[in-house]
Amino acid sequence: MLSIRNRYLFAPIKTGYSDGSGQVTDRHLVFYRERSQHAGAVISEPFYLDARLRELPTQMGIDADDKLDGLSRLVETFHDAGAAAVAHLNHPGRMANPKIPGNVFLSSTDRPCENGGATPRRMDGTEMDRVVDQFASAARRARRAGFDALELQLGHGYLLAQFLSSFVNDRSDGFGGDFEARVRFPLRVVDAVREVVDLPLLVRVSGSEMVDGGITVDETVQLARKLRERRVEAVHVSAGTVCSTPPWFFQHMFVPKGKTWDMAEQISRRGSVRVVAVGQIADVEEARSLQKRFADGYLAVGRALVADPDFVGKCLGTVDGPVRPCLACAAGCLGGVRSGRGLRCLVNPRVGREHLVDEPTDKSLRIAVAGAGPAGLQAAATLQSRGHHVDLYEKNEVGGQFNLAPLTPKKRSMRKLIPYLREAAERAGVRFVAQEARAEDMKRYDAVVVATGAKHKVPHIPGLDHYRWADILADDPLPSDQHVLILGGGLIGVDVATALIPRGNRVTIVKRTTDFGEDMEMIARNLSLKMLRESGTTFLDHTNIGRIDGRTAHGQRNGEPITIEDVDLVIVSTGMESVDELARELAGKLPVWTVGDARKVANAKDAIEGAYLTAREL
Ligand SMILES: Cc1cc2nc3c(=O)[nH]c(=O)nc-3n(C[C@H](O)[C@H](O)[C@H](O)COP(=O)(O)OP(=O)(O)OC[C@H]3O[C@@H](n4cnc5c(N)ncnc54)[C@H](O)[C@@H]3O)c2cc1C
Ligand SMILES: Cc1cc2nc3c(=O)[nH]c(=O)nc-3n(C[C@H](O)[C@H](O)[C@H](O)COP(=O)(O)O)c2cc1C
Ligand code: SF4
Repeated sequence: MLSIRNRYLFAPIKTGYSDGSGQVTDRHLVFYRERSQHAGAVISEPFYLDARLRELPTQMGIDADDKLDGLSRLVETFHDAGAAAVAHLNHPGRMANPKIPGNVFLSSTDRPCENGGATPRRMDGTEMDRVVDQFASAARRARRAGFDALELQLGHGYLLAQFLSSFVNDRSDGFGGDFEARVRFPLRVVDAVREVVDLPLLVRVSGSEMVDGGITVDETVQLARKLRERRVEAVHVSAGTVCSTPPWFFQHMFVPKGKTWDMAEQISRRGSVRVVAVGQIADVEEARSLQKRFADGYLAVGRALVADPDFVGKCLGTVDGPVRPCLACAAGCLGGVRSGRGLRCLVNPRVGREHLVDEPTDKSLRIAVAGAGPAGLQAAATLQSRGHHVDLYEKNEVGGQFNLAPLTPKKRSMRKLIPYLREAAERAGVRFVAQEARAEDMKRYDAVVVATGAKHKVPHIPGLDHYRWADILADDPLPSDQHVLILGGGLIGVDVATALIPRGNRVTIVKRTTDFGEDMEMIARNLSLKMLRESGTTFLDHTNIGRIDGRTAHGQRNGEPITIEDVDLVIVSTGMESVDELARELAGKLPVWTVGDARKVANAKDAIEGAYLTAREL
């Protein structure tokens, strides 16, 4: 049995922090050091078994002995902080990254993932033997590097799941067909690893692939029984696949919380195995109740430990203070990895830059922060905690535009951000001033941080006399049974549409270009647009509205005249512009820094990050 100090594991999360060589870097070490402080064990990001099998150009490798020094340092980092070290081994199969030159794509099939990716080669016996060897030699290397346990990936739509899943596996050669045949190759890998190392084994599975024809809970129960016979330490029950159902894989805020826990419970009971439960464990009370529910098993926590490295300590009661909440948004973490810049976090600007220390100031200043949206709140908290005296002015509601974000049906988890930022600023000692920051009042400060955000642009359209903006999201009740014309189809237009549809409204969205929701996080975008399409929303791309005449909008679509009739309500979401008058008024009179949307219209992640990086320099 795995000998660890508690039952919390850090889930395997790709960081994208290597440098192209596959080596462990200092960035990994500082990131993992913080996540190892309280967890019983840390499961590493997936190590590649061969440089031609990478998911990311910046992934860590375990393919050769030149990686051993780095991997040993990684293990030491976990151990020094008191956590056991688990090496996560995965072969991506057809889900290797097609953008990485030289990558090889193998699978049980020769069909690519229906959502893109390279066309794989259907593996023959020799290739299957090679994969077994690759896992076995990675396992040996992990043991030499000092890892305490291994986790083998049999889920999430990667190679071994491509054999397990009848949705993918179309073979008829003894490795495809009925369950017994489909499970043969994955079990060969498990057996080979078992044979070469005597370390405890975790096996990651998708309890259900959440796709018609894919792996079901019943099949996973059967698999679990076979794994129990092979004395695996625990079956780690996630869901979804990287190809067909990424929202389940990443446990995005758009999928319901708790389904994976139910799957884990069933698999544990019916398969008589110890399980690891995972998925949106981000609340202390909930985690404590799951500890009881899975008393004999483990809890894996991913993003909640990215957002707040002390989350497990807070669950165990060894660390005080509010949890910096993971919103399950995937914007900073998955977004950061996909962008190539590496794992980041919307709520925690230190993720990926853990080496930064917020030095106390050697000259305490009186600083006014104008605007208490995400940027102002973050700037104020950081400045005050470094020893400055901060007055935070807000003329409306603390939270700014972001107060509207959780009012869209699937984004409720975002409601945790503003109360957290507010509490962090209050705890730091920031003084809240519920009034407008006017230039004449700022003269008594040594410096001003302008975080006055952004306001919506109103297009010059003759006849556009009555309209609303995203503030309509705060109406209770929302309008119902209306024909709503939304001018502009970016994040705000799409969010408003998704809130209006369930109220029986008919929605038409017009956009000058084609890229609806272009500024949205990718999973939220895909699922929102899918929902809108399925509910009959009319999308008019390349459309320009030139005039509104009563209930009729007139314009051009691809150069042709177009009219939109029976419009009851117009929503304007044609972009935002910075509110930066205060900065301009104060320029040259006082030291002024502008942060967040007031500096450049973007999103909450950039607002918080920019505010933090500015505030730590003042
Ligand atoms: C409907 C909607 C959904 C969104 N969804 C997301 C999302 O899912 N993810 C994401 O990352 N971003 C989202 N955003 C964008 C995000 O809310 C903004 O990018 C972010 O709030 C910008 O933060 P900020 O602090 O710079 O500005 P703001 O949030 O605009 O805050 C500025 C604050 O300053 C105050 N203020 C202005 N002038 C003064 C003054 N002179 N004195 C005192 N106070 C003043 C304002 O009242 C306001 O409270 C969404 C926005 C909207 C409207
Ligand atoms: C950016 C990111 C990368 C991830 N990479 C992997 C991966 O490579 N392999 C894997 O099995 N799971 C991966 N996961 C899934 C996590 O291990 C975990 O199952 C998921 O985030 C749900 O748990 P959480 O809600 O506690 O974060 C990743 C998740 C995120 C957010
Ligand atoms: S970016 Fe969002 S989902 Fe990812 S860790 Fe941070 S808060 Fe959680």
